[in-house]
Amino acid sequence: MTQTQKPVSRQGFIKVVSGLLGAVGLGAFVGPAIAYFWPKKLEEVPSEPVAVGPADSLKVGDYQTISYGRYPAIVLNTPNGIRAYRAVCTHFACLVKYEGAEDVIACPCHAGYFRSDDGAVISGPPPKELTAIPWFIKDNNLYIGGEA
Ligand code: FES
Repeated sequence: MTQTQKPVSRQGFIKVVSGLLGAVGLGAFVGPAIAYFWPKKLEEVPSEPVAVGPADSLKVGDYQTISYGRYPAIVLNTPNGIRAYRAVCTHFACLVKYEGAEDVIACPCHAGYFRSDDGAVISGPPPKELTAIPWFIKDNNLYIGGEA
């Protein structure tokens, strides 16, 4: 049995080359777009300290929610000083906020309240306290986590 090869026509060759170039061009465009939207691998808790900002940027009664590993953190300036906690309620994981006028941390989902000083539950359904995060000031900047 003999095998015969058909010669490739010029049009066929151009179609194949243009198809390959189109695939490479599409890959060059789509690849970075997919990489941009692909979720980053987040650590549960960052191994390095996370910068909050200038040490004096939080006035008493103010708070800031910042990215902190997989879950956000809340940094507040209470009448007794700076505190930092994971911002995830221990009930059903809603994000908490600081109510500076009442000096309490509140969860809006089911009216859970936590003490600002130690994150302990005051009232509501949360089963346990908020997780505290260490903080420190270096070169007049506030950091949370990492080695204090
Ligand atoms: S999720 Fe916070 S009180 Fe229910």
